[in-house]
Amino acid sequence: MKVLFIGGTGFISTSVTRLAVSRGLSLALLNRGQRQAGPPGCRCILADMQKPDEVRAALGDEQFDVVVDWIAYAPEHIERDLALFRGRTGQYIFISSASAYQKPPSHYLITESTPLSNPFWDYSQNKIACEERLLRAYREEQFPVTIVRPSLTYDPQFPIAIGGWGCYTLADRMQRGEPIIVHGDGSSLWVVTHAEDFAKGFVGLLGHTQAIGHAFHITADEVLTWNEIYQTIADALGVEAKMVHIPSEFIARVAPGFRGSLLGDKTWSVVFDNTKIKTIVPGYQATIPFREGIRRTVAAFEANPQRKRIDEKVNREMDGILKSFGACNS
Ligand SMILES: NC(=O)c1ccc[n+]([C@@H]2O[C@H](COP(=O)([O-])OP(=O)(O)OC[C@H]3O[C@@H](n4cnc5c(N)ncnc54)[C@H](OP(=O)(O)O)[C@@H]3O)[C@@H](O)[C@H]2O)c1
Repeated sequence: MKVLFIGGTGFISTSVTRLAVSRGLSLALLNRGQRQAGPPGCRCILADMQKPDEVRAALGDEQFDVVVDWIAYAPEHIERDLALFRGRTGQYIFISSASAYQKPPSHYLITESTPLSNPFWDYSQNKIACEERLLRAYREEQFPVTIVRPSLTYDPQFPIAIGGWGCYTLADRMQRGEPIIVHGDGSSLWVVTHAEDFAKGFVGLLGHTQAIGHAFHITADEVLTWNEIYQTIADALGVEAKMVHIPSEFIARVAPGFRGSLLGDKTWSVVFDNTKIKTIVPGYQATIPFREGIRRTVAAFEANPQRKRIDEKVNREMDGILKSFGACNS
């Protein structure tokens, strides 16, 4: 099977790339080559997706069984992809987001037929618009789309709501005995999925004709509270977690950048029904409990200390929220 990943060296896609290569797929990664190289066994195509002419030249007249765009975020990216890949792929997979599901949720258990609606977060609204455009292309011109909606998926990073993404800032704060922020009272339910587990479901969708026209989420079945998530991170680091619980609405008011990701996503309890992916990809089961996955994340940072990047902007923002909250309560 001949597969093209647009991206493929990112946070989620790296694990998928590794698994696809190990399963013997003929995989090409199209990216700018600014991150780590793909694993041995996959071909690298250097191009910038912002420059469609460059992409067209790099791809020539190659045909693919599957194209996965890991980095489409807005309808204009979908129009570009339709123009690029119409008639030259047997399947096109769009990476959407589980944050697109109805917020606030009318039921805690999310299935793929949960309505898509998110009045709080433009990121999710754009993903919904992308899905709608692709489903129209499927209906009107049989464009062979499959939609995948990851929820919070991690591997070498900490899956958190506040404290930075991909950096070591939150862990460093915990190690220095500084307070960290937990939104709400920390009791809402959440699901984090290790990227290696996600990969097992995802690779099963590649070239699967029954997946065309369908949407899937692929998550762990383990359900945690946010308090448990932060406590498990602290345990893996061997430190105490000094959690300060702050209402999401307060955080969104003093730090508006969090409005979407909190009020439009992580504030709400969500649990995923994974029956659909398990039906289409028999044997799919997430097997990495958070306690184990996060130990691997910590070990990966320890093994590679130059990855322990501290984002001072994140620190300043957290300190600012804590200060405003403290002032409010004194
Ligand atoms: N992680 C989560 O919890 C989560 C949850 C829901 C949805 N998602 C979705 O997952 C996707 C992100 O996947 P990821 O984590 O693997 O991505 P990522 O970490 O953002 O990596 C981006 C990839 O795209 C390449 N890239 C970036 N800009 C490019 C450009 N202009 N032209 C060509 N290549 C470019 C990068 O390589 P170069 O920099 O070398 O070009 C890299 O391979 C997004 O669609 C996101 O909405 C993620």
